[in-house]
Amino acid sequence: MGDKRIPLIIDTDPGIDDAAALSLALFSPAVDVRLIATVAGNVGIEKTTRNALRLESFMGTDVPVARGAAGPLAGSAIVADAVHGKSGLGNWGYEGEATELLIDTPAAQVIWDELLACEAEGCKATILTLGPLTNIAILLREHPDLADHVECLVGMGAGITHGNVGPLAEFNIAADPLAACEVVESALDVTFVPLEVADNALLSPADLGELASASRTGAAVAEMMDAYASSTELAGGKQVYDPTAFCYVVEPQMFQVATCHLDVTTEPGEDWGGTHFDLEGSRGLLANVHVATGVDADAFRRWFLDGFRLCS
Ligand code: BDR
Ligand code: CA
Repeated sequence: MGDKRIPLIIDTDPGIDDAAALSLALFSPAVDVRLIATVAGNVGIEKTTRNALRLESFMGTDVPVARGAAGPLAGSAIVADAVHGKSGLGNWGYEGEATELLIDTPAAQVIWDELLACEAEGCKATILTLGPLTNIAILLREHPDLADHVECLVGMGAGITHGNVGPLAEFNIAADPLAACEVVESALDVTFVPLEVADNALLSPADLGELASASRTGAAVAEMMDAYASSTELAGGKQVYDPTAFCYVVEPQMFQVATCHLDVTTEPGEDWGGTHFDLEGSRGLLANVHVATGVDADAFRRWFLDGFRLCS
């Protein structure tokens, strides 16, 4: 019997909620994580790469890591260390760093090689993006036929009704709006899981207590989540954005999804990085993305906590 797991390439900027999503993915029986590509985002590229290696050392996993873009295609970098802490992983006291997993080739090249390796095995990989879309845009510029070699791309990003760094600008889009625009306008099959999904599936203090006792990895992520509190806390709990996108990869039936046209604002100004979804189709433009508009919040929370019970 063949391997029924989804071959998955994760592009990420760890980041506390990235760490949560990576933990779930690395121990999920539903996916085969083939590569972790890093990108500058929540913190700079040296730190996001180091964080991926520290997390893998802690969890005892051995997925190769490739260092990606150090900044956006255009404009200057923004970071979110006020949310994730100076290191990117809150106050977590890491132990080691799995430097032996780092591949000395740029991430876009390694992603391409891995896509071709999957095809040679008779399957197509899914790409999960948890940070700015810079590496994917670079890959698209180098390989305009990228869509033919990828099953689909699922990305945490965008906001339907609001942003978190601008009126309609979500961090992963605002950190590289040009890259997001190029990805949206490509032939890739793209699904965004936006801010609203996590906003409506908050983890309560009781959920976070359960996380801490789920496993050693759960305890580490719960410790990171303590520092993540201040700027992401809504009444009744905390959002964990990036795990919602991984959840969509493995449990899409938990979500409501619309297919529509998306415009990303790439011109500097107040709407820089803003995402405009034409959910009603009133502009008469061709659909270019899918967007998750809702999730079964109770099912998501159960899935999240059960996933941490499978971690080391
Ligand atoms: C996204 O921005 C980052 O700070 C998080 O890791 C997440 O990917 C939420 O807007
Ligand atoms: Ca992220």
